[in-house]
Amino acid sequence: MSVDPARVPVALDPAWLDRLAPGRLFSLEGRVAIVTGAAGGIGRWLAAGFGLAGARVLLTDRHHDPSSAIAAELRDAGVDARPLCADLEDESSPGRIVDGALEAWGRVDILVNNARIHRRIPMLEVTRDLLDHVWKIDYIRAYELSQIAARHMVDQGGGAIIHIGSISTEVGLEDVSLMGPAKAALVQLAKAMTVEFAHLGVRTNVLAPGFLETPADASHWRHPTRGDWILDRTPMSRPGHPAEMVGPALLLASDAGSYISGQAIYVDGGFGAGSRWDVPAGTGQAEYRAWIEAGRRIGGADRRG
Ligand SMILES: NC(=O)c1ccc[n+]([C@@H]2O[C@H](COP(=O)([O-])OP(=O)(O)OC[C@H]3O[C@@H](n4cnc5c(N)ncnc54)[C@H](O)[C@@H]3O)[C@@H](O)[C@H]2O)c1
Repeated sequence: MSVDPARVPVALDPAWLDRLAPGRLFSLEGRVAIVTGAAGGIGRWLAAGFGLAGARVLLTDRHHDPSSAIAAELRDAGVDARPLCADLEDESSPGRIVDGALEAWGRVDILVNNARIHRRIPMLEVTRDLLDHVWKIDYIRAYELSQIAARHMVDQGGGAIIHIGSISTEVGLEDVSLMGPAKAALVQLAKAMTVEFAHLGVRTNVLAPGFLETPADASHWRHPTRGDWILDRTPMSRPGHPAEMVGPALLLASDAGSYISGQAIYVDGGFGAGSRWDVPAGTGQAEYRAWIEAGRRIGGADRRG
């Protein structure tokens, strides 16, 4: 198809201008979102961010209590949020999760594949059972959920799927031979899904966190040297807060990202860009402390505590 130059708009189309106010561009009003692993450090913030942007949110996790408590907190904040207990170990869980959203609200517009298990273990100690287990939760269930959700999204005329990746899709990290390759597979899945579904209105992307200050990764920050290693190599010299995932997630889920599909967006404080030369050990730590003392802290527990 060739573009007719006479049809290329030169004036600012009022219909487009009307859509560009941030409140409209990033709004999820009327949409239904599913977040897996919603009781986790990042999942709860994604559920909150989507809910506050107007979406009805299904928070699903393997245990009943944490996701129910978070859903209750969100309801108190005026969000239409429901918990669904589903263990992704269970083969029927992907179908049950999508059915949960359909039964509650009759549609599914956004799926976030966020649940994961993570075992940091040297490759020579990885057993076949462990390999199967991690790939099942981190890749296969995300694949199956995407398949089922995409089918409904195509019938509805559109939707957005976000796989939560990691910087370990791009860089090798010690003892991460289980999760890293599974996350890298999600990047390729987003591309494959884009090719199959983008023309049908379903966009698929990856949102990949770097080193965030979350309970699951607290061991990094408590470790005698690892926190320094990370901060010395992170251009922003600080860990990310899980709430900092929300803005980019809204971009990918909403009309603001209407022409984005098949991409991996890294929320990593610049880690993947590279690092400074000759940084003496502990520089990042000192810069982070100065950042906190300057009152620029975003919130959450002080990791030095
Ligand atoms: N925290 C970080 O700094 C970081 C860094 C890179 C990538 N990530 C990615 O971000 C996502 C969220 O990470 P997080 O720090 O919130 O992790 P988390 O461990 O706090 O959350 C993961 C959630 O998945 C759930 N889950 C695990 N097994 C399940 C199962 N069988 N069935 C149902 N639910 C199950 C857990 O109960 C948990 O609530 C993950 O995909 C992770 O790989 C996080």
